[in-house]
Amino acid sequence: MTVSNKIATPDNFYWPQCNSIASAKIVDKAVILHWNDDQQSTLHPVWLRDNCCCELCLNPITREHLLDLRDVSLDIRPSAVEVDAEGALVVTWSGDQHRSRYNPDWLYAHSTEQRSQRDDQMRLWSAADLCEPPSLDAIDGIVTDELLYEALLTILRHGMVRLRGLPTDTAQVETLALRIGPIRETHFDRIFDVISKADSDTLANTSHYLAAHTDIPTRESPPGIQILHCRIAEAKGGHSTLTDGFKVANDIKQQFPAYYKTLTSVKWCHANRAGPTDYRWSAPIIGLDDQGELLEVRLLPFSRAPLQADYKDMDGIYAALVCFLDLVNCSDYQIRFPLQAGDLIMFDNRRVLHGRSEFSPKTGDRALRGTYVERDDVMSKIREFEQQQSRNG
Ligand code: OGA
Ligand code: ZN
Ligand code: ZN
Repeated sequence: MTVSNKIATPDNFYWPQCNSIASAKIVDKAVILHWNDDQQSTLHPVWLRDNCCCELCLNPITREHLLDLRDVSLDIRPSAVEVDAEGALVVTWSGDQHRSRYNPDWLYAHSTEQRSQRDDQMRLWSAADLCEPPSLDAIDGIVTDELLYEALLTILRHGMVRLRGLPTDTAQVETLALRIGPIRETHFDRIFDVISKADSDTLANTSHYLAAHTDIPTRESPPGIQILHCRIAEAKGGHSTLTDGFKVANDIKQQFPAYYKTLTSVKWCHANRAGPTDYRWSAPIIGLDDQGELLEVRLLPFSRAPLQADYKDMDGIYAALVCFLDLVNCSDYQIRFPLQAGDLIMFDNRRVLHGRSEFSPKTGDRALRGTYVERDDVMSKIREFEQQQSRNG
């Protein structure tokens, strides 16, 4: 353990040792740090004071702020700065002479140019890049922590992963889901079986072809990650399909900008219409975040409510929808592969569209079991694994 690991940070996390502070000075009201890799940080006094982690300012157990910012003057200034023997930045504040001490590794991570590696990790794909989901083998049917970590990173990159060689018992899917996070319950069963049955109230539980879709766009927040475990694969047909909706969205943006504008702005209502529940939600098919970046795709073609739009706009809206439907179901973008008993796929249900080909129940059984967790459960689990790895060095 390095010395700086012993210097408190505002959190309980491990900040790997990067660089030390070469010098600290006050310029006007800012604290300027020079790092020994020649980077410079200009720290705002209120930001520094806000992040003081002494026991008066931060609860030492919960790592929650005790300092109430209303008690800090927005004109606060540092009266002295120094780098102490352990490499920490120590700031003495004008007025009450409060002293704050900052861990250099934490400061470096929060104030220098460190590009978010996560953003770089998403790799959009079409059928030219992959013909089946990236796959990982569960040796002896066991999903180790290392395997789970790799699987979650793969979801982050490609929006999908397949684990192979799992046992086919009914407990697998729930056990795995709970290792990632709490199960995202919906108005369907918490753990659901996808099997063909006569009186089904959803197309999924028939033997019909399912066009590329995302599950449950009828909810304000559709489930983030879908997990499907194949337990029985005896029936002929029923191949799985997956399509990277973000890749299709990006290509439409380049090739058909007018359709992109329509797909990202016109709201379609998705509705579960068989009752007795009545969930419905209106949103564009391609959802962007407040920075204009791709956030989600919503499409359940067979559960769309009637379009509500002016007559004059309908030509354009339908043309954009059909363009999207064509591309997400075409062999340039959609991959198609058989699932074997013991396979488990996990995919980002708000990025990757899934479907299946028709199957013939007379030729044998087909049974999948599934559930959902959320996207941010995956992110938290990845960070948790990475914290463990850093701590273990
Ligand atoms: C579903 C679904 C795919 C399949 O249950 O939502 O899309 O392969 N199932 O049966
Ligand atoms: Zn303090
Ligand atoms: Zn589905």
